[in-house]
Amino acid sequence: MKILFVFLASLICQIAWAKTYIRADAYVEVKSGKTIGNAIIVVEDGRIESTKGNLNDAGPDDEVIDLAGKTLMPGLFDMHVHLIGNKLLKGAARVQESDQLALLAGVENARKLLMAGVTTVRSLGSSSYGDIALRDGIRAGYVIGPRVFASGPALGITGGHCDNNWMPRERDIRNAGVANGPWEVAAKVRENIKFGSDVIKFCATGGVMSKGTKVGVQQYTLEEMQTLVSEAHRRGLIVAAHAHGTSGIKDAIRAGVDSVEHASYIDDEGIQLAVENGTYLSMDIYVTEYILGQGIADGIPEENIAKERTVGKIQRSNFTKAVEAGVKMVMGTDAGVYPGFADSPKQLSRMVKFGMTPAQALQAATINAATLLKKQDEMGSLEEGKLADIIAVAGNPLEDISLLEDVTFVMKEGRVYKR
Ligand code: ARG
Repeated sequence: MKILFVFLASLICQIAWAKTYIRADAYVEVKSGKTIGNAIIVVEDGRIESTKGNLNDAGPDDEVIDLAGKTLMPGLFDMHVHLIGNKLLKGAARVQESDQLALLAGVENARKLLMAGVTTVRSLGSSSYGDIALRDGIRAGYVIGPRVFASGPALGITGGHCDNNWMPRERDIRNAGVANGPWEVAAKVRENIKFGSDVIKFCATGGVMSKGTKVGVQQYTLEEMQTLVSEAHRRGLIVAAHAHGTSGIKDAIRAGVDSVEHASYIDDEGIQLAVENGTYLSMDIYVTEYILGQGIADGIPEENIAKERTVGKIQRSNFTKAVEAGVKMVMGTDAGVYPGFADSPKQLSRMVKFGMTPAQALQAATINAATLLKKQDEMGSLEEGKLADIIAVAGNPLEDISLLEDVTFVMKEGRVYKR
């Protein structure tokens, strides 16, 4: 009996995980917004075992990764992406893409995000449940990509921003998330949950990239939004509202959404409501540069370009106001509207340009996002016990935020993807 016990105990010791020691010049402690010098982070079984490691403790089976000259920080979170589809297809051309081909394009989009240092994304709307399949495929190890929190099809009114208005009536094309009236909306939330959604996305107002919608005009009524949010929250899902227009933003916040996406025409009352309700804003202030630059050459229809010309400017000045008022913020870029998914971290420097400190921008892209997802105990900072999502840049990102545009090392859950 005793011999058996000793044997089992020694077996357990032997199959203990080999550890990885990552040595770097410093790491960013995102909560305090400070760097801690001479970092040695110890990773075991996909998690951070210690942030105060000692290389003398490394055993013969352990790995030491030497990142001299680099600063470590938690992997980035992009809280607004559209993973599925070939994003070079614009307007009506998108309708011709099969769900299967769109998913294969999504595999490549996901890989690019991960390689750019984005280890967690929230997928807010795909024309099919492809984003749910991609999430599961990444989890299963079939393909590589960030950890995905996926919405599946976004809910919206008939003819609204979350519908598909590119084809004439006889083609009978509508988006899978179309639902009108409180009970249809509740049923659609239930359907999305049935097919695996982690989060509910809906369109509260018109948008820039859709046909025939006005950004300022509210689409769902307050009553529809209240039903949607209570149904989702009762089932434990968070809710993201696409809202550019002033009244739609405020009704979405009153209805209790967890985040408002875009928030372009938010007014002082909306800012106040967001502060009072603890609502996160996810303002995609980088994408304007793509739409009004390369987007024109890429064939974005004039109708959409014209809308962007007014929205972009106002969104940026309202971003500054919201930051000054102390609204909670996450980084959401709308990757997918711009096809180069690796550009996601470019938004960080724009967030600093329009009013955040570098520390605030990093918090928006890490711990704030983890908190929005209700996963702040699992991810979003380099702390003992959390998942080992670790990236590195050359130099101190608190001094030069644009360093995040060149992430040289990517680890997700303890596995190295880029080095
Ligand atoms: N998906 C959004 C929409 O179509 C993109 C908005 C882009 N413009 C901006 N200024 N953020 O409405």
